[in-house]
Amino acid sequence: MKVTWVLPRGDEVVADVAEGTSLMEAAVANNVAGVDGECGGSLSCATCHVQVDADWLGKTGEVGEFEGVMLDMVEDRADTSRLSCQIRMSPALDGFRVVVPDAG
Ligand code: FES
Repeated sequence: MKVTWVLPRGDEVVADVAEGTSLMEAAVANNVAGVDGECGGSLSCATCHVQVDADWLGKTGEVGEFEGVMLDMVEDRADTSRLSCQIRMSPALDGFRVVVPDAG
């Protein structure tokens, strides 16, 4: 399944991502600058913050309670913000696009 990360300066990273892989793991595997995944996906760092293209937001599921707490600490949180370690790739997300905010 294809995923596109749009970087702060407009560059794009496109990769094929296997079903079940978290979007954070895929970003780290593809050296997406600004997505660090420092806590390994345990919801304690927020260094996997991305902003989801509005068209895709409904397909990513709800923001979890702890995810919401962590997102509150993100300086540039937007209505479309998600922690990408909490998004698992599925066929419904083929073609998925996310924006990597300046602060990561
Ligand atoms: S990788 Fe740390 S909160 Fe997502």
